[in-house]
Amino acid sequence: MVKIKDTVKEQDPYIPGRSIKEIVEQYGLDKDEIIKLGSNENPLGTSPRAVEAVKNEAKFMYRYPESDLKELTKDVAAYSGVSPEQVILGGDGADEILDILGKTLIEPGDEFIVPIPSYMYYEFTLKIHGGVPIYANWDMPENVLNVGSVLESITPRTRIIFLCTPNNPTGALIDRRDILTILENTDALVVVDEAYFEFSGVNNVDLISKYDNLFILRTFSKILGLAGMRIGYGISNPQFIEYMKRVKPVFSLTRLSQIAASASINDQEYIEKSTALSIESREYLYREISKIPELDVYASKANYLLVDIRKTEMTSKLMSEELLKEGIIVRDCSSFRGLDDYWIRVSVGTMEEDEKFIDMIRKIVK
Ligand SMILES: Cc1ncc(COP(=O)(O)O)c(C=O)c1O
Repeated sequence: MVKIKDTVKEQDPYIPGRSIKEIVEQYGLDKDEIIKLGSNENPLGTSPRAVEAVKNEAKFMYRYPESDLKELTKDVAAYSGVSPEQVILGGDGADEILDILGKTLIEPGDEFIVPIPSYMYYEFTLKIHGGVPIYANWDMPENVLNVGSVLESITPRTRIIFLCTPNNPTGALIDRRDILTILENTDALVVVDEAYFEFSGVNNVDLISKYDNLFILRTFSKILGLAGMRIGYGISNPQFIEYMKRVKPVFSLTRLSQIAASASINDQEYIEKSTALSIESREYLYREISKIPELDVYASKANYLLVDIRKTEMTSKLMSEELLKEGIIVRDCSSFRGLDDYWIRVSVGTMEEDEKFIDMIRKIVK
C-alpha cells in the first residue's frame, strides 16, 4: 500500500443533508412528493433566466471555461458593492474557497478557531491541510457567540477565525461590535461567513476597506438558487485575493456555472421574490412550531430554523426517520459538533410544503 497522508487517514467523514434520490430508494417514495427541507436551498427553485442562459450555452460545453472570469467577477463586485480586485470566485461553491484559504494560509500544526456549533465544512477542509481546530463557544440557549471564548482561543499559531453570521445551524447573527473586537485583537484572517446574509438584511462588507485581515465568504447556493452548480465567492483586500488566485484551480468554475451565475445575480425580480418568500416561510414556520409545546424553536435570521426536540423524548435520528417515512427531509443535527442528539434544522419551503410539514410534525409529536 502506498503511504497515505496522516491527515487523510484521520479524516472524519463529512455528513451532508440527505438527497432526494437516497430517500426515494430507501423508502420507495414518489420523488415528486418529497419535501426537501434539509439543505437550506431556495424554495422558489432556479431563476428562469439562469435556466434559459444554460440552455443557450449548452452547445459550447466542448470548450474550456473562461479562466479569468472577468464578467462574473464584475457582476459579483457590483452586487456586493466592492471592486473586482476584491473578489475571488470558487467553482465548488464557497466550499472551494475554504479549500483555497487552507492552501494559502495553513501549514501543518497551524490553528483555526471555530465557535461551535457552526458549519462543519470549515474543519473538514482545513484539517486536510494540517490545520488544528480550536473550538470556541456559541452559547445555547442564549444563541449568541461567546466572544470571550474566541479571544481566549487565540495563540501565535492562529491563522483563521471563523465567524458565521447568520450562524448555521443556530440562525442568529453575530453582533457587529463582537466582529470588530475580534478583528482588532488578532492578526489572523477573520472569515465572516455570510452565506445567508440576504435573509438577514445585514452584511459587513463595508469593513473590508478598514481591516486587511477580514475575509467575507458567500455563495450562490442559497438566495441565488444555484446549489447544484457549485459557485461561491470571497471578498477581501486585493493583495490577499491575488495570493489566493495563485493557488486556485484554474478551470474549476464550469462554463455552465458561470453563465447561470451571471443570469441569476442579475435577476433582480427573482432575488426579491426569493427573499420575500423565504422570510414569509421562515416567520410562518417559527410561529407554527412555537405553538407546539414539545418543541423549542429558535428565532432565525437565515432561511432555516433550529429546533430543540428533547421534550418529545425522541432523538433527532428517530424524528428525522419518522418524517422521512412521510417524504419530508429535515436535517438531523447530531453530526454538528457542539450539539447533542436532540436537535433538528428545518429549511424554509414553499407555503404549501411548510403547511404539510407542520401537520406532519404535529402528528409525530403527539
Ligand atoms: C454557513 C455556510 N457556509 C458555506 C456553505 C457552502 O456553500 P456552497 O459550498 O454550497 O457554496 C454553506 C452551505 O450550506 C453554509 O451553510
